[in-house]
Amino acid sequence: MSSMGPIGIFDSGYGGLTVLKEIVRKLPAYDYVYLGDNARAPYGNRSYDTVYRYTLQCVKWFFDMGCPLVILACNTASAKALRTIQQNDLPKINPDNRVLGVIRPTTEIIGDITRSGAVGILATTGTVQSRSYEIEIKKFFPRLTVIQEACPMWAPLVENNEHQGPGADYFIKKHLDNIFEKEKYIDTLLLACTHYPLLLNKIVDHSPPGVRIVAQGEIVADSLAVYLKDHPEIEKRCARHERLAFYTTDSVEDFNNHGGIFFGQPVQAQHLDL
Ligand code: DGL
Repeated sequence: MSSMGPIGIFDSGYGGLTVLKEIVRKLPAYDYVYLGDNARAPYGNRSYDTVYRYTLQCVKWFFDMGCPLVILACNTASAKALRTIQQNDLPKINPDNRVLGVIRPTTEIIGDITRSGAVGILATTGTVQSRSYEIEIKKFFPRLTVIQEACPMWAPLVENNEHQGPGADYFIKKHLDNIFEKEKYIDTLLLACTHYPLLLNKIVDHSPPGVRIVAQGEIVADSLAVYLKDHPEIEKRCARHERLAFYTTDSVEDFNNHGGIFFGQPVQAQHLDL
């Protein structure tokens, strides 16, 4: 019989904290352990093989920490590593545990938000190249027009705490101009990278009026609540002491200084060598 443990939340760096924040708000009773692989972030421009290797290594660490369930709160990892881990690795490493991503919950509901039927996906180069959003959205909403735009500088701006500066305005405007040039009828923009909510104000400023900007945190939290309800065999293995633990593969000091901006309250991390 498998023992109880925290729910694992993973990101390449800080972005997943925007998701954890909403999950804790929605499901405060559970224990959570967060891992930011800051030493190897960003993942956005890395190859399939590298993102898969890094993500699998982190998933195994979560399992060693006793997590029955791990959420890849990183679109790049969800796009490039999740399926292989679910199908090939999980049955061998720990068939009783589960690993979930952030793409599916968003694609299930995005068609209910748009009126024009044209949805813009703003994401890392890796997520865009995988075409995961296009493919998944078409399964639920075959008639939607899905326009993608890779924004390779956005996550690094956030990771480096430059997201409020004038450099951020330049790169945000550039990619928003690009996506609306590709399709002017886009009325819904999905922030398909968990770093991007930190850029929200500037994204609103540089988007045409009336465009809906959708972040994933709340959507993923709602979907996790439904998942736990529908999977009592996993839910009963999720510890409930309201404990939070944070780990980073890079500097603890940097994580503590910077992570609070994403999480909305102070964080105290521990270092992990991978
Ligand atoms: N936060 C990650 C995502 O959702 C990516 C950032 C990166 O490491 O490039 O895609």
